[in-house]
Amino acid sequence: MRILVGISGGIAAYKSIILIRRLREAGAEVRVVLTESAAQFVTPLTLQAVSGQPVRTHLFDPEAEAGMDHIALARWTDMIVIAPASADILARMASGMANDLLTTLVLATTAPVTVAPAMNQQMWAHPAVQANLSVLGKRGVHIIGPASGIQACGEVGAGRMVEPEEIAAQVLRARSRIDWRGKRVVITAAGTREPIDPVRFIANRSSGKMGFALAEAAREAGADVTLICGPNNLPTPAGVQRVDVDTALAMQSAVAAVEQMDVFIGAAAVADYRVQTPAEHKLKKSAEVDSPTLTLVKNPDIISEVAQRTAKPFVVGFAAETENLQAYAEQKRRAKGMDVICANLVGAGLAFDQPDNTLSVIWADGTQQFERADKTLLATQLIALLDKIMNRDKTDA
Ligand code: PMT
Repeated sequence: MRILVGISGGIAAYKSIILIRRLREAGAEVRVVLTESAAQFVTPLTLQAVSGQPVRTHLFDPEAEAGMDHIALARWTDMIVIAPASADILARMASGMANDLLTTLVLATTAPVTVAPAMNQQMWAHPAVQANLSVLGKRGVHIIGPASGIQACGEVGAGRMVEPEEIAAQVLRARSRIDWRGKRVVITAAGTREPIDPVRFIANRSSGKMGFALAEAAREAGADVTLICGPNNLPTPAGVQRVDVDTALAMQSAVAAVEQMDVFIGAAAVADYRVQTPAEHKLKKSAEVDSPTLTLVKNPDIISEVAQRTAKPFVVGFAAETENLQAYAEQKRRAKGMDVICANLVGAGLAFDQPDNTLSVIWADGTQQFERADKTLLATQLIALLDKIMNRDKTDA
């Protein structure tokens, strides 16, 4: 995947460094073109270091034109991503100008163009900017964002560049050409709560972020997604059908209620045990009892039940481990009848309730390591990998 990242002048230009890193981590070859004003915010040297390639700014650069002229660069790329895209570059693109290298490349390429606008909220709301955007949209330019929030200028409103991880995820999705239309995908997310009495419960630190990111990525690939989740504070991804549950037993029933599924992804941290008989009333502190005992019983193993269905879907589980990651994960994969297991190390500052994660993905005859990255991006990469494994399985069959 060859991606040309264009950077125009704006304070969000520093975020493009992260965008380039994320794209490269996902295996993309990245070349960078800066506008002159962007060079006021980030240096070509920094961008050269993160992209691993010479960075270009000028249209008339004799040295660069001798190596790869601008037309060759326009042909080389699979996609141009301009992030941040200032009001100025949007205007120049909308009017078809070619007065610097970046706008020239936009005219000279046949590759799709994506822009992530970033500017002051008043500028964003200006009819001229909106008119330019509408022209670009009609020409097929893909527009990501902007997001709303506090701006570098201190104002609040729409105009912030979408976070680089989200831009990278959208770019990768657009390039991956994964078509899960017509596939029924069920994903479990977050932790379960096992009641002790009406006010107390046994729980874990799962936030649901990993499972929600997977639901979004599967939906983006066109799947019909049902997300069955324990208690969490996350918004429902657009187009995803959400079922809220609290206990492992409730999660088991919700999963059992889905009769037909093509893919099942168990990202939930399901409690292995529950309190045998939760108290009907709040347990009182007792002067006589120093070490009260809770009797626990085993919860059903939801993913194993799914893997034992007659019409077995493609089953993907997660393993949260604090040691012997690969070995324990592979044992779980076999014991529970999963096709694929995604192993993550957990502990202080790792995986649980973090925005990012590191995954070792293991299947019958392969493994793949995903380095630490934002869960949105990881989810996109994981769905692409699952697609590959499933298609290969189909071909083998
Ligand atoms: O939610 P986040 O904060 O984003 O954190 C993500 C995560 C760390 C929770 C996630 O990446 C993860 O690892 N989820 C699985 C955690 C877990 O409970 O692993 P486990 O090793 O105990 O279970 C193995 C597999 O069996 C999992 O797919 C689990 O969903 C499933 N299971 C477990 C017990 C049970 N009774 N039923 C199950 O289906």
